[in-house]
Amino acid sequence: MSDTVMHLGSGKVRELYALDADRLLLVASDRISTFDVVLPTEIPDKGRVLTGLSAFWFGQTGALVQNHLLALREDGRSTECRRLEMLPIECVVRGYLAGSGWKDYLASGEVCGHRLPAGLVESQQLPEPIFTPATKAQTGHDENIDRAAGAALVGEERYDEVERLSLELYRSVSERAAALGIILADTKLEFGVDEEGRLVLADEAFTPDSSRFWPADEYRSGGPQPSFDKQFVRDYCESLGWDKTYPGPELPEDVVAGTRARYVEAFERLTGIAFDDYLASPEVVLA
Ligand SMILES: Nc1ncnc2c1ncn2[C@@H]1O[C@H](COP(=O)(O)OP(=O)(O)OP(=O)(O)O)[C@@H](O)[C@H]1O
Ligand SMILES: [Mg+2]
Repeated sequence: MSDTVMHLGSGKVRELYALDADRLLLVASDRISTFDVVLPTEIPDKGRVLTGLSAFWFGQTGALVQNHLLALREDGRSTECRRLEMLPIECVVRGYLAGSGWKDYLASGEVCGHRLPAGLVESQQLPEPIFTPATKAQTGHDENIDRAAGAALVGEERYDEVERLSLELYRSVSERAAALGIILADTKLEFGVDEEGRLVLADEAFTPDSSRFWPADEYRSGGPQPSFDKQFVRDYCESLGWDKTYPGPELPEDVVAGTRARYVEAFERLTGIAFDDYLASPEVVLA
């Protein structure tokens, strides 16, 4: 990397560089986190899967909302993108009751202020997809918030706009996934604002790291669903009785290989593109 490129920071998964005043370089590493802890072992090519899938979905959803993607680099893990002022909320849409949504429902019958019918079971499909934003915690876990808290952070008009757009994006991608035998249970989107004050879809989009994808043929409500990708890692970590705080455990080879295969499978099923073709020429996902 040339020394004119400034390193802005490291997320759990991505390295952020400033290319100039208007452009960023986002480089997705092969780091994997589980229970919000980054593990010491990497999953080869995971960053390429996330980068390729995001670029694919940016291309597919371009008619609904503009996005930050400017160029995809040859390494398949780096994207040049517009440098934005990011909104301080994570835009989550849930079509099914899982994760923190399920926990909140059990405790209160509500998720982010949406009162839900009584008697729903874990992983059940909701009557309608709901917008359930969260704060972006600098450290620790994100916290689910309701409309009032979200509007206090971004303004009411902006809140309504991201809610509408997030729901539209979820509907569009979940319909496509359903046609491929994959349930998009929920997803997290991040938006930024450009110089003109317009919303731009940013970060990663509709990847296994930002979404719960479930194979439709194995779906059974009434309990947790096996995750498409991180299940091997989660199961292995659970089997150790690890307390889910740093440092996380090293992963054995078979867990690494199994996890890599699942990430690649998610890429291929969702895009219909062979992962080797992506490695040879990343721009195939933009066609
Ligand atoms: N176009 C953009 N302009 C500015 N910032 C962006 C843009 N796209 C993504 N980001 C930010 O880049 C970071 C991506 O890093 P990464 O995904 O590794 O972070 P994370 O672990 O999810 O969360 P955290 O940022 O809390 O570490 C996020 O903070 C995201 O908000
Ligand atoms: Mg992220």
